[in-house]
Amino acid sequence: MQKYILIIGACGQIGTELTMALREKHGNDHVIASDIREGNDNLMESGPFEILDATDYDALEEVIAYYEINEVYLMAAMLSATAEKFPMRAWNLNMNSLFNVLNLGKEKKIDKIFWPSSIAVFGPNTPKDHTPQNTIMEPSTVYGISKQSGERWCEYYFNKFDVDVRSIRYPGLISWKTMPGGGTTDYAVEIYHKALSDGAYTCFLKEDTALPMMFMDDAIRATLQLMEAEGNRIKVRSSYNLSGMSFTPSEMAQSVQGKLPNFKMSYAPDFRQAIADSWPSSIDDSNAQQDWGWKAEFDLKRTTEEMLANLKPD
Ligand SMILES: NC(=O)c1ccc[n+]([C@@H]2O[C@H](COP(=O)([O-])OP(=O)(O)OC[C@H]3O[C@@H](n4cnc5c(N)ncnc54)[C@H](O)[C@@H]3O)[C@@H](O)[C@H]2O)c1
Repeated sequence: MQKYILIIGACGQIGTELTMALREKHGNDHVIASDIREGNDNLMESGPFEILDATDYDALEEVIAYYEINEVYLMAAMLSATAEKFPMRAWNLNMNSLFNVLNLGKEKKIDKIFWPSSIAVFGPNTPKDHTPQNTIMEPSTVYGISKQSGERWCEYYFNKFDVDVRSIRYPGLISWKTMPGGGTTDYAVEIYHKALSDGAYTCFLKEDTALPMMFMDDAIRATLQLMEAEGNRIKVRSSYNLSGMSFTPSEMAQSVQGKLPNFKMSYAPDFRQAIADSWPSSIDDSNAQQDWGWKAEFDLKRTTEEMLANLKPD
């Protein structure tokens, strides 16, 4: 059977790179990008694109029937920092979009679903270091509550309705092709832009706030690997812990100074500090390693090299 893929929320930080990676793998015409807004030129010009609202079930059903879609990646969501400002909008978007896609799976209109969760599912009572796959989960943010609920529903739809839904708890993602979309780890991208443009950056988290992070290439590779794994290897049907690296803003500043010695970092923590304080410092991803062979490749040093090399003005 031919594979036709729909990416919902394709113009965001992850969706943009995921779309290009899937187009490279399956052919441009087999990967339909969609969003409520247009994306960058590369994305728009390389294959089919539809304006599509993830909360509109009928519109989703129509696009899926038209393109004979069998696999969906649902990347549309409101992220952690923005969700604290618009709690009900975040809840409605994050949950209704997921229910729409899960129900399309239940109706057997699609065969396979990817839905991303987050380290935000953990909360202040979770063990902070090497946070295990199964542990206390009492998220204290709107975003975290929506992701934890989403995980429960994914597992439920797999068990009750045999919906092949797969998920990863992404850490904070670092990338240079697209700017981040309103998360608590956005500082780890902004720092590189500001280091090159101004030689200085004011971080909105405290210098010693360690958080789990990952370079985008690793995140995309993990996503493709999980989706390609044989179904019987996927033992976790809520969402997999995934680890890349873990560092504090001050360690990140040192890493940038290794390449740009005059770079200066200052700190002015805002409301995002409380969100970061409720999250783990590092993640144990041994289930992902054992079940589908996951291994991260990028550490902080390599991430800094990649970011500065690609963002540097010509
Ligand atoms: N980026 C990270 O660090 C990170 C970490 C953990 C989890 N995640 C999760 O990964 C997914 C993608 O994150 P991202 O960083 O690419 O987010 P983003 O904010 O960069 O992109 C989200 C995209 O969804 C689109 N969108 C918003 N409302 C929509 C709607 N109603 N219908 C269709 N599209 C809509 C936006 O226009 C945007 O292009 C989200 O579920 C997010 O929670 C991201």
